[in-house]
Amino acid sequence: MKARGHFTNRFGFIAAAAGSAVGLGNIWKFPFEVASGGGAAFVIMYLVFCFVLCFPVMVTEIAIGRKTQKDPVGAFKTLGFPRWTFIGKMGILAGILILSFYNVVAGWAFGYFVQISIGNFEIGNQFGEYINNIGRVGLYGIIFMLATAFVVSKGIAGGIEKASKILMPALVGMIILLAIYSMTLPHAFKGISYYLIPQFSEINFKVIYNALGQAFFSLSLGMGALITYGSYVSKNDNIVSSAALITVSDAGIAFLSGLMLFPFVAYLSAGAVETVEGGPGFIFQVLPGAFESMGLITGRVVGALFFLLLSFAALTSTISLLEVPVAYAVDEMNVKRSHAVWVIALFIFLLGVPSLVSNGDSHFFTHFITYIGADKPTNFLDFVAHIGSDTLLPLGGFLMTIFAAYVWKKHNLNKEIETGFPGFKGSLVEKYIDFAVSYLCPAVLGVIFVLTLLNRFFGVDLF
Ligand code: PHE
Repeated sequence: MKARGHFTNRFGFIAAAAGSAVGLGNIWKFPFEVASGGGAAFVIMYLVFCFVLCFPVMVTEIAIGRKTQKDPVGAFKTLGFPRWTFIGKMGILAGILILSFYNVVAGWAFGYFVQISIGNFEIGNQFGEYINNIGRVGLYGIIFMLATAFVVSKGIAGGIEKASKILMPALVGMIILLAIYSMTLPHAFKGISYYLIPQFSEINFKVIYNALGQAFFSLSLGMGALITYGSYVSKNDNIVSSAALITVSDAGIAFLSGLMLFPFVAYLSAGAVETVEGGPGFIFQVLPGAFESMGLITGRVVGALFFLLLSFAALTSTISLLEVPVAYAVDEMNVKRSHAVWVIALFIFLLGVPSLVSNGDSHFFTHFITYIGADKPTNFLDFVAHIGSDTLLPLGGFLMTIFAAYVWKKHNLNKEIETGFPGFKGSLVEKYIDFAVSYLCPAVLGVIFVLTLLNRFFGVDLF
């Protein structure tokens, strides 16, 4: 058998896994979720969920990957439970669905980078038309998928790790720079206080539900991305501290991106942050105006920097999304990486075309489905997101924790974590992870999965 790829060291793994985690979820979705529900209350719930609930799931995924050194399907086989490979297959399906729409939004971001670079600030007011200009956003989507496939085709150390080691520090640098700059703007303080001073009366069931979904998606959990990356990790590495660092980076960057964005929003709305509506168009509609008012040159530089940052963050995530089905094809079907990458990338791009045209261009895909009890139809892009991220990820997380605790068994999980971290045995961390994986995570994720099904697809009004 030919040698599998691996990360050259711990930093390489952490950069790649944090790269997977940090993405549109942090910089595009997180702020609009904050703006559409709860402000700082949402931020607090999100942080709590990251550490209390998601961190143990992350440790479990990495441990399964490292133990077996296999893709998410092969992993369950290698552990001796071929009947559980369906979890891996579901994960691959989730990854394919997520990448198909994620690439579309990543293409929008990259297109904004181009547009702002050439001084087209009007793009913010033309967001609706822009995402309907299929020639244009289609081209940006193709470029994005090509870049993703190119990196993945270069393999683990020479592709994914190398790209992440360059893109991640660049991203952190850009975000800090922009955050500092935005805080010097008029009304910045109003933005910060909206973001940081919680109104606990705003916490309701929906905010909790959204914060949990956001944390899970943002940490790339439930679909085997971290089983796959874990399979390239050395046996000497400490899984717990790596997972902790990945979680801190992800939550930290989401937090920082809010610190950067809300002053911009406050500046633009002359302090009336509450009046600005959240939603998928949030950064795309709001920000270009803010950049424009900074002056032609400054606005161009700051704006282009911002959308370049967003594109970098998205790229390290699309790479991990593509790597999951590619690893499966390479490990289980013995396909050459270089072939698998291009075929799968093309397939996923084509699968994304209905999402691409579902914002008005195609009547059919724009009015794709009307859920029971809903008054408006849902477009194809949102429909795929509802299945891929909102439904399959919590279900995957639920099944993985059940599997680890009761099928593979906790003592085996613990043994794998101890490899590279002898102090784990008998520690409080061990007790907590065992408790979370056996009870807390399956219970919460199971409930979230059922609620999503009821709410999204069966029209049960839970909120
Ligand atoms: N975590 C990524 C983000 O926040 C999205 C993602 C989900 C990537 C699942 C891989 C797997 O944008």
